[in-house]
This record gives sequence, C-alpha cells and structure tokens, in this order.
Amino acid sequence: MQSQPDVTERLTPQGAERAAHLLRQGQIVALPTETVYGLACDARNPEAVARVYAAKGRPAHNPLIVHLADPEDVARYATPPKALADLWPGPLTLVLPLRPDAGLAPSVTAGGASVAIRVPAHPVMRAVLQAFDGPLAAPSANPSGRISPTTADHVLDGLSGRIAAVIDGGPCAAGIESTIVDMRDTPRLLRQGAIPIEVIEAHLGHPLAEACDGPIVAPGQLTSHYAPKGSLRLNVTTPDPNEAMIGFGPIAGELTLSASGDLAEAAATLYKTLRALDDRPRIAVAPIPETGLGRAINDRLRRAAAPRDMPSSE
Ligand code: TXA
Ligand code: MG
Repeated sequence: MQSQPDVTERLTPQGAERAAHLLRQGQIVALPTETVYGLACDARNPEAVARVYAAKGRPAHNPLIVHLADPEDVARYATPPKALADLWPGPLTLVLPLRPDAGLAPSVTAGGASVAIRVPAHPVMRAVLQAFDGPLAAPSANPSGRISPTTADHVLDGLSGRIAAVIDGGPCAAGIESTIVDMRDTPRLLRQGAIPIEVIEAHLGHPLAEACDGPIVAPGQLTSHYAPKGSLRLNVTTPDPNEAMIGFGPIAGELTLSASGDLAEAAATLYKTLRALDDRPRIAVAPIPETGLGRAINDRLRRAAAPRDMPSSE
C-alpha cells in the first residue's frame, strides 16, 4: 500500500480540486459536512478504504457511509428508497440493498449486502463530490471511539500526520451526525441524528418501526462511544464540587450548551464543549429535554457516559 504523507495539508474551502486530486490518488482527506467532519476516500478503491480504517483505528466490521453528489446517483449503487429521498441533500443516511454490480470496495460495507448512503448538503463537501465525480466513503474524522470533530482543528488534534489533507470549512452547522434510517423493509431508526425523528415521521406519514431502544443494528452503535477522557454524569441540576458543569437553559455551568435553551444551538456546541473539558476527570451535564434534537443530544451524552470497558467501535 502506498504510504501516507507525514504532513497533513490544510486546505481552504477553495481547495476542492486539490482534495479531489488527492482522493483520485487513493489518499484520504478530511472534509467538512453539515453534521461533522468526515474522513473521505474513494469508495471503489480497497487500498484507500483500508487507509481510512487504519487512520481511525476502526474495526473492520463497522461499515462506512457512502456520500454521493446527487440523489439520482443512488441507483448506481443501491436499490433507491421508496421514501425520504426528498430530505436530500441533508443530514440523513439511508441503509439500502447494495447492488451486486455497485463496484464499491467490499470493505466499505464490511462485506455486507446493504449500503448506507447520504447526499450531503455542505457546499464544500458537494464541491469535492462534484470535482471527484464518484462515491466517497466517509466516517467521522476522529480516532475510533472518540468525540466527532466539528472543526478542522479537532480533525488535526486526532489525525494530524495520518491523513493527506483537511479542508477547513469552519465549524459544522448541525454539530451532530446524520440520522440513519434502514429503508430495506419498514423504515426503522438506526441512529438518532441531525434530523429529528418527528420530521422523518412527518415525511413518512407514519411512525418509524422502532426507535433506538431496540436491538443494535448499526454496527457502530455500541454503547460506549463519542467519549471524552473523563467520566460523565447526566441530568444534574447541582454539580458536586469537583465536577466541571455543562449547563443548558436556566441551569448554568462552567460552560453551557445553550443559555437560551435552544436545542439546535446545543447540538452545534455539544462536541466542542465535551472537547473543551476533555482534561477534566469528572463532568456533569444539565438535563436536556427528550424531544426533537434533544433525543440525539441525549443519545450521544448517554454513550459518552457509558462505562468504558465495553468495546467501542468507531
Ligand atoms: O453525519 C454523518 O453521518 C457523518 C458524516 C461524515 O457524513 N458520518 C458518520 O459516519 O457519522 P460514522 O462512520 O462515524 O458512522 C456511521 C454509522 C456507523 O454506526 C455504522 O455502523 C453505520 O453508520 N453504518 C454504515 N453502514 C451501515 C449499514 N450498511 N448498515 C447499518 N449501519 C451502517
Ligand atoms: Mg463516527
């Protein structure tokens, strides 16, 4: 396998052509999306995909999301979904039956017969997809099990020297990963994310088959995940003296997810806030309402708070 450069190039948002050039060479490049930064590679190139797994330290059984420029491209790789494609471009990932002639590296789908597909909305990611003119597999651009990056600096903190380049597109607007729905049968939620399930159910016209409290189906959704180094205590109104407090709404803290109690702002600041307190041994978090984006925020907080002796998968 061609070796990876020691120095990671930092590109401006105008660097789409340079990024596409590196990707065509089989290199791996971190790119901004509206959710979190992704670590992209040519989804058809097994060596490039292997570099992504190696750079992240990601277990081979955890498949990657394939990003496409246009909803019309989906039919080349998968059976198109019967619903929800109207939410693309956007922070939605659909699991679909993989076409046997899709031409994707088998490692992208971890050898499975389904593929997770997303058509992202971020202008820089779209510019790279258009310049590259092919499918880009991209997990979040963080070492496996750690907090997802929402800025180029976060990416470099975890992966500098392990990836060819990062495009700095500024902070990600949503700040939390895409919602994942399995569309192979009755639509079923696999991961809470940046599109609230209320919105998805309104588009479907009926409830999703099952919320995330069912059996784990997305292999990356093991319990411990998105973890800061210290321990996390949730639904705290009064912190212990030795805890770093993260506030929300009227409950103040050393830092706050949103002083005004705005869930979109809280999602956008969640990972940055957890990173800012990464060197603190004990962190407490104010209650977040279990509605709309609050569901995805609570999902990430529960995983960040989970015991660390479990295998974390990405
Ligand atoms: O917002 C996002 O989705 C970001 C940006 C970069 O697009 N990507 C992201 O990728 O969060 P990653 O690899 O960190 O999380 C993808 C999740 C994992 O839990 C993985 O197991 C699941 O998607 N997944 C991928 N392919 C799947 C498949 N065929 N069936 C079920 N789950 C799948
Ligand atoms: Mg991830």
